[in-house]
Amino acid sequence: MERTLVIIKPDGVKRALIGRIIERYEDKNLKISAMKFENATQEILEKHYEEHLGKPFYESLLSFMKSGPVVVMVLYGENAIELVRKINGATDFLKADSGSIRGQYAFCTTENLVHGSDSKDSAEREIHLWFPELKS
Ligand code: CMP
Repeated sequence: MERTLVIIKPDGVKRALIGRIIERYEDKNLKISAMKFENATQEILEKHYEEHLGKPFYESLLSFMKSGPVVVMVLYGENAIELVRKINGATDFLKADSGSIRGQYAFCTTENLVHGSDSKDSAEREIHLWFPELKS
């Protein structure tokens, strides 16, 4: 069993896609073990996106992520990290598989609806960041 962190970004919330996005994960047998709806702070976003500091899209990414509430959740199941990334689709919406969330709904690379951890180390780091109350 593996766990991963998923964020439904402000565009997914504003476009009323929360239910349809969560359904995709549940349909692939991923289970939700924690979930919350909140406004992300500058502090948490700086830590979450520290690897992107200095990239051309960094400032617009942070301001987009603060533009409205997000849904943050921990999903678990077999191969949860890779499965979520497949369900989400490629970061570049033009390259995202048409059956993926981004392939179906995204029309921008920054405002791309969802985030999924990209490795076991990132998943644990991100889960501790967003849900410090959860045990390892
Ligand atoms: P995410 O999976 O949350 O991880 C980093 C985010 O940065 C990514 O989704 C996009 O929202 C954004 N991003 C990554 N690459 C680019 C890019 N080339 N141009 C604009 N935004 C990007």
